[in-house]
Amino acid sequence: MSIAINDPSCPPMISKAPIKVPPTAAVIFGATGDLTHRKIIPAFYHLAKNGLLPDDFAIVGFARRPKSDDEFRDDLGKALQEFSHTKPVDEAIWKKLSEHIYYFQGELDDAEAYKKLAEKLKSLPESPTIGENYLFYLATAPNFFGVAAQNLAAAGLASPHDGKRSRLIVEKPFGEDLKSAEELNRTLQGAFAETDIFRIDHYLGKETVQNLMYFRFANSIYEPLWNRLYIDHVQITVAEKVGVESRGGYYDHAGASRDMLQNHLFQLLTITAMEPPASLDGQSIRDEKVKVLRSIPTPSLDFLQKNVVRAQYGGGYIGGKPIPAYRQEEKVDHESLTETFVAARFEIDNWRWHGVPFYLRTGKALAAQFTEINIIFKRPPGVLFAADGNDRLRRNSLRIRIQPNEGIGINFNAKVPGKAETELVDMDFLYRSGFDQYLPEAYERLLVDALVGESTLFTRSDEVEQAWRLVDSLHTLWDKQKVRDLPLYACGSMGPVEADLLLEREGRHWIRPKEIK
Ligand code: BG6
Repeated sequence: MSIAINDPSCPPMISKAPIKVPPTAAVIFGATGDLTHRKIIPAFYHLAKNGLLPDDFAIVGFARRPKSDDEFRDDLGKALQEFSHTKPVDEAIWKKLSEHIYYFQGELDDAEAYKKLAEKLKSLPESPTIGENYLFYLATAPNFFGVAAQNLAAAGLASPHDGKRSRLIVEKPFGEDLKSAEELNRTLQGAFAETDIFRIDHYLGKETVQNLMYFRFANSIYEPLWNRLYIDHVQITVAEKVGVESRGGYYDHAGASRDMLQNHLFQLLTITAMEPPASLDGQSIRDEKVKVLRSIPTPSLDFLQKNVVRAQYGGGYIGGKPIPAYRQEEKVDHESLTETFVAARFEIDNWRWHGVPFYLRTGKALAAQFTEINIIFKRPPGVLFAADGNDRLRRNSLRIRIQPNEGIGINFNAKVPGKAETELVDMDFLYRSGFDQYLPEAYERLLVDALVGESTLFTRSDEVEQAWRLVDSLHTLWDKQKVRDLPLYACGSMGPVEADLLLEREGRHWIRPKEIK
């Protein structure tokens, strides 16, 4: 399938970011950490490579260890070689960008350090043109989010004045339950204006997730069917092949429900289920998304007991690579009851979706790595073809592949040539053959949007709190259950049999990912 995509009148993204970002000093807290190396610096590099950064742009890394600017630049350069999603790295671009990167040594909980940071920010070679235009990126351990925001405010770095601006990006996890998320919201909002707080859920930065809104609202064929009258159920899967690897310390307190369900899966759910927004501005879109979450009543313990499955992976091999059982992973409690897999059936109790189950599942150490949304339509009446043995015609479905093999497929019943039989066949759109444009990584889009103050692709405080309300209800159930063990699933499988039964008892089954070469 080929598509004309070079129409300049067509906005490239949901977010309406202008092409160039304004002169800014971006300060990364947690500058020597994994996220900076893997995602943030490669994203800045690609923005520079695509001509999206202005000449007057500076990046300041804030971290604890002593380091010179040059040592810091060298470390980042090595990380870029390893983690850049385009290779080879363009050395000239990196050299130019790295000349605007600086290092600042400080402790996150030391208020004095932020005052010194304020002085440093005023004395950078780029400062005369940048002025007091700042972007602060909290890529630290979550227990520092609040204190860093407060210290920034106390050092006068949070209050915009004279038309200048100061924005704050906060990484996930945003709290560990509703109460801590509310507290964190209060602390951040005490330091920065809500409009200057950008809570990251990197799934929203993915092109395919943004395309969901285009797919739904820029076409006329699907939206009339997008409701309880035509849709049988919806499946959302985020499956990962990797285990927890080196993140056992964090993961053992989070589990799949906090690490993935509360944020990424609920974001996919809200965009799939939301009403058309009044406009494409951040407020209208987020109003609609939060309405979806509000329409999911806090499930009763009885409902959860029947509709939620959790499990943990045992050891084994995936693709020939040994994976230890979860409890044997580094920094994981040997008796841990943390779930590495969760599947749940939710209902959105509103006019559009009443009675339509939304099945969500996510897990680590599974057989395949893919994120998909499957919309399964109601079974067509088989009357006409009953005599041909087709009284159980198969359901149409739409497969929205968020990653990998980004694209969308639809299937339908077709006549088998030469026979009076039907078979399910499909039509498929694949981004990589439909478009020849560069597909930016999620963090590139999100950095640009935060730099220009475009908030659509970030999570608002009420969205975060609504999502925690639901995840908290799961934990209330699990705390009450006081189990001594969790069901185990074989590493390299698609999760425990209980997750299959969740659908099978209702005459449905999980859709397997399609093989695409
Ligand atoms: C992160 C989770 O938010 O998302 C990780 O903390 C997970 O556990 C990751 O592996 C998945 O992101 P992606 O973009 O690789 O699907």
